[in-house]
Amino acid sequence: MCGIVGYIGPQDAMPIILGGLKRLEYRGYDSAGLAILQNAHIEVRRDAGKLEKLVSLVQQDPVYGHVGIGHTRWATHGEPNARNAHPHMGATGEVVVVHNGIVENFLELRDELSAEGVQFKSDTDTETIVHLVERYMDSGLDLVNAARQTFHLLRGHQSVVLMSSREPDKIVAARLGNAGGVVVGFGDGEMYIASDLPAILEHTRRMVFLENMQMATVSREGLILETIDGEALDYEIQNVQWDPVAAEKGEYRHFMQKEIHEQVRSLTDTIAGRADFDQGRIYLPTLNLDPDTARRIRKIIITACGTAFHAGLVGKILIERIARIPVEVDIASEFRYRDPLVDESTVLIAISQSGETADTLAAMAEGRQRGATLWSIVNVIGSQAMRISDGFISMQAGPEIGVASTKAYTAPLIDLYMLAVYLADLRGTLSSGERFKLVQDLRLVPDLAGRCLEVEPQIEKIASRLVEISHSLYLGRGINMPTAYEGALKLKEISYIHAEGYPAGEMKHGPIALVDRDMPVVIIAPEDMWYEKMFSQIEQTRARGGPVVAVATEGDALIPGVTDQILWIPPTPWMLSPVTTVIPLQLLAYHIAALRGLDVDQPRNLAKSVTVE
Ligand code: AGP
Repeated sequence: MCGIVGYIGPQDAMPIILGGLKRLEYRGYDSAGLAILQNAHIEVRRDAGKLEKLVSLVQQDPVYGHVGIGHTRWATHGEPNARNAHPHMGATGEVVVVHNGIVENFLELRDELSAEGVQFKSDTDTETIVHLVERYMDSGLDLVNAARQTFHLLRGHQSVVLMSSREPDKIVAARLGNAGGVVVGFGDGEMYIASDLPAILEHTRRMVFLENMQMATVSREGLILETIDGEALDYEIQNVQWDPVAAEKGEYRHFMQKEIHEQVRSLTDTIAGRADFDQGRIYLPTLNLDPDTARRIRKIIITACGTAFHAGLVGKILIERIARIPVEVDIASEFRYRDPLVDESTVLIAISQSGETADTLAAMAEGRQRGATLWSIVNVIGSQAMRISDGFISMQAGPEIGVASTKAYTAPLIDLYMLAVYLADLRGTLSSGERFKLVQDLRLVPDLAGRCLEVEPQIEKIASRLVEISHSLYLGRGINMPTAYEGALKLKEISYIHAEGYPAGEMKHGPIALVDRDMPVVIIAPEDMWYEKMFSQIEQTRARGGPVVAVATEGDALIPGVTDQILWIPPTPWMLSPVTTVIPLQLLAYHIAALRGLDVDQPRNLAKSVTVE
């Protein structure tokens, strides 16, 4: 995910910016750049690849100045090359921007600017920002007001940092939504800006964190904090005592909690650049697929382990329903031992956060040997699974450090949804109206995820009532049956509480015998076509004395009558509901484990990536 660093003060800005970017490397990136105000004009150095390339660029062609901004980019719009690397300059070379997040309406804005004669030099959404600021400055506004006008035009979640050689005494920054934070650091006659604390922690511990829709004007004299509507704000400088590892976690206690919260951003990034909302189409060019090849697919086999396998189970429902292709889902460690029926008309899709899981790679090798086309849905770019695939979809979840997978579960859910729509489009199995609606629904996802996070305090309260339990059952049906598996896996791996996920309809065939007052049952009952059956499941559990925790849709009038332990989710289109139903279960597991004082990020006996059979 993108990292940002800025400096204004008496020191040489370049080493401070490079040092800060270095500390943000753990977030992952594919290009890096910086801009320095040198002798009243802006100098930019940027390149694709690792920071070392930027370092050697500035060694060959040094820049010196006291004001500057830098950026590491994780590509969303446009390839990871030097042209698309940040900072981006306007036409005059007098304004420069770095950006984290996505300008959702950038196509619209780019068309508008192009019609006014603006020439774009990159494929990024970010470049629209700098041209807009320049347009407003050319019409007579100062940098702050030009930025303010621009911020009002941007849709989506993002943070933006700008500077201009016309006003060399300041840097302007804003936090617009949830695409990462902006922190302002106070030095002695000098100021720092960063997307994340670790970037500037060695220089200062006196910080102000921007809230949503706030903008900061930073000069050597200090900070002016305002809303983006121009209302002046008071601020309190916090004295941050965190060590560097704690700083990477930001305001969160554990990486898992941070990663659960990052889902607004990771889901935004997953959708960006792939969904064309105007055309109602999905584009997945890295699959290297054409309509003829798509039409020749007879069967899809999804293979994966653990959490990724659960995502695959959701994928089966989506692909069969939307693209009408038969799908089998195999646990990767079993696939090669069952003499699977695979031929040239089969596509094998491996799902893996790490792209290095031994069983998943072995299943891919088995599929390859039997003539299947190999696709992968992978988070770690350049991993083995990605390298051996004929086509891939990169998850865009960003680095996941907690052993329990969270954002690398919801990202592939969306990838599989988009894949289903893409295949259906290529094979002509959807009407354009249906396709359009499915694509539009994707727009809702980041905000829906954000709304699930808002009820965290209530979830923590429910968790506090469950800290002492020894067992639990998780029940789901239809598209949320895999959510029951995933919710139970989250609980058992980090809290060491025995938890089992079941298809709700199977209860009467055995597991219901387990239900008594010591067996809490988590029942996933969003308002969808399975709602009545799940509601009757709640009744049956209560009739046997089992405490019920329900995942229910806001506005549900019936469930509050039968249980007060409710994890509320916003109304969600049913095919996307596995994203909103799982987030409260991730939070529930997290808070139970945290309240039990366990090592949430590194649970006993588990490794992040299982590279042995
Ligand atoms: C999930 O919380 C686990 N850490 C585990 O099940 C994981 O999903 C599995 O090991 C697969 O890993 P991968 O996605 O890196 O292949």
